[in-house]
Amino acid sequence: MPHRAAIVGAGHTRFGALAEGPRALLRGAVEEAFSSIDRGVDRTAVGEVFLATLGFGGWQIGNSSTVLSEEVGVAGAPTTRVENACASGGFAIRAAVGALATGTADLVLVGGLEKMTDVTNARRRYWLGVSGDTEWERSAGLTFAGVYGLIASAYLDLHHLGREALAEVAVKNHENGSLNPNAHFQKRVERAQVLRAPRVADPLGLYDCCPVSDGAAALLLTRADLARRYTDTPVYIDGIGAGSDFLAVQERPDPTRFRATRRAADEAFRSADRSRTGISFLEVHDCFTIAELLALDDLGFTEPGAAAALTLSGATARTGRLPVNPDGGLKAKGHPIGATGVSQAYEVFRQLRRAAGARQVPGAETALTHNVGGAGATAAVTIFSAG
Ligand code: COA
Repeated sequence: MPHRAAIVGAGHTRFGALAEGPRALLRGAVEEAFSSIDRGVDRTAVGEVFLATLGFGGWQIGNSSTVLSEEVGVAGAPTTRVENACASGGFAIRAAVGALATGTADLVLVGGLEKMTDVTNARRRYWLGVSGDTEWERSAGLTFAGVYGLIASAYLDLHHLGREALAEVAVKNHENGSLNPNAHFQKRVERAQVLRAPRVADPLGLYDCCPVSDGAAALLLTRADLARRYTDTPVYIDGIGAGSDFLAVQERPDPTRFRATRRAADEAFRSADRSRTGISFLEVHDCFTIAELLALDDLGFTEPGAAAALTLSGATARTGRLPVNPDGGLKAKGHPIGATGVSQAYEVFRQLRRAAGARQVPGAETALTHNVGGAGATAAVTIFSAG
């Protein structure tokens, strides 16, 4: 990548059903990000601000990014809301890298936020639905669980698979979440418990779904050549890619492949000049367990359908050959929509600085994050290294 960037500070709230409102959540994440900068920083140095949020519940749809800048003492800096549904965070990081590359700022603040649990069930369904295709999927009554359930059925049929690999994704990610003090669910589950749980959208059951969570995360980014002004242990962004697809899954030639992910991954690997074998661990977008299998295939780590066998082999466990979602993923850590992509980069920041505590991936030197909007309509992929 012609202009590498670096993360020099990062913060994260707990994810879950929380008492705090949106402003307090943002403050919590950003204050931790500022205080994590080893050599300190004058806030007036922040030259650009991006806020990733859907605005769930309609708390502040217009001009919401100014809430971030005013809450954390950088009012005056240019601010922009980035909204690509569940991929908002990944695209906000991409926007920050762009701002650093064009020289509009030397230090950029990225916040990710969603407050989801303080609305009624009916309004929750509405706000979860707004990022799906309105003309066909929503009018047919399809929820995201419904769309991913249809994709999962097609995937299992095509590759002659049972539900075991889906269940194994849930077991693994709950196990990882049990080691993450910020995770929404910090409880282990057994494969039999996952398989017999109530169905939400066949073949997906309760434990195949991410929860509805509140939470925020924040990053401070600078140009790679400036990073050591702030810290001796920056985490570098070596490559970044993004893509999109038809909004409605029915318009796509193959519902079991996410072309947005494939395009984003190809661009990210090309710009990082790195191969798949050079990645220590992955943070992928497992909003439903099937999505983790799709991610492994579409990111190019497995042939189509082979993600199931890789998962069942234990290779994607935290201590396996290719750890996936050591923070618990969306499945167990939680999925506050706009915060998720930023949270994935937070996990990479902790892991590559060897500061992930009980969930540390042994020997992690490089990582990839994968953030998807809706059922594959948008995707952002980022590749990181410890420097
Ligand atoms: N995974 C594991 N356990 C879950 C869970 C999940 N996703 N969601 C809820 N639970 C547990 C709760 O902790 C609670 O346990 P308890 O009885 O021991 O306290 C129990 O299940 C019931 O919780 P409740 O909040 O009443 O569940 P619900 O039926 O209202 O919602 C889902 C469950 C799966 C429908 C909901 O979490 C959901 O809609 N998830 C998908 C969100 C989504 O679509 N996001 C966008 C993705 S693109």
